[in-house]
Amino acid sequence: MALVEGRNISKSFGGIQALSEVDFAVDAGSIVGLIGPNGAGKTTLFNTVAGAFKPTSGQVVFDGVDITGLPATAVCRMGMARTFQVCRPFGAMSCLENVMVAAINRRPGEPRAAIERLAREKLNFVGIPELEGVEARHLNVIQKKRLELARALATEPKLLLLDEVMGGLNTQEIQQAVAFIRSLRDELGLTVLWIEHVMGAVMQAAERIIVLDQGRVLMAGTPQEVVTDERVIQAYLGE
Ligand SMILES: Nc1ncnc2c1ncn2[C@@H]1O[C@H](COP(=O)(O)OP(=O)(O)OP(=O)(O)O)[C@@H](O)[C@H]1O
Ligand SMILES: [Mg+2]
Repeated sequence: MALVEGRNISKSFGGIQALSEVDFAVDAGSIVGLIGPNGAGKTTLFNTVAGAFKPTSGQVVFDGVDITGLPATAVCRMGMARTFQVCRPFGAMSCLENVMVAAINRRPGEPRAAIERLAREKLNFVGIPELEGVEARHLNVIQKKRLELARALATEPKLLLLDEVMGGLNTQEIQQAVAFIRSLRDELGLTVLWIEHVMGAVMQAAERIIVLDQGRVLMAGTPQEVVTDERVIQAYLGE
């Protein structure tokens, strides 16, 4: 069953048609990759699904509910979390406080100690427990991406949207990250929709891949179907 579905989504910014009639569905419990050349509309699709943008037309259905046009905080409370391609943590706050802010949105009114415990658990899960007292502005890009993930997980999502979390990693780190993304599904039971330019990583971890090109769905299929598709090869070679 689809946990999230886009129906005929279009989004334009003034004269720019960033998405045109995009249909997609992500089954509960799956890891789905979203790929496509620069400017294909991947981040715009996330923004439209997660409530940052209202689509110009079309519908977003999450967990059986039409969430089209709902604000991001409401969508987040329903169980959808996302990371940002460009991370902007609260620089003057510690890592722990950054994660606590995310947890509070999901659990308003909960005692501080419980929020703190949850935040600590998430910093631990993403592998940066030792940074809890460090102000976020001191983190390097990779640490910021982990903090970003901890913040998303602290909202206790069913669906996690990841926007390019592997930039800047070396080959060995990419392997660890692939295992980590699998663990999000296998250990936390999350459904993952994942934008990534590191193709080898998406091919390993995702069971289905959606290819966007110039605001349209070029194709969707298994990794094997995608890498051998003539249209996909053309879209990438044309870059
Ligand atoms: N807020 C905005 N205002 C105007 N145009 C925008 C806005 N956001 C995105 N666009 C345009 O929409 C198109 C799709 O951009 P988007 O960021 O979704 O691509 P992307 O697939 O995520 O690319 P990348 O791989 O480089 O991150 C681009 O032409 C971009 O310039
Ligand atoms: Mg993008």
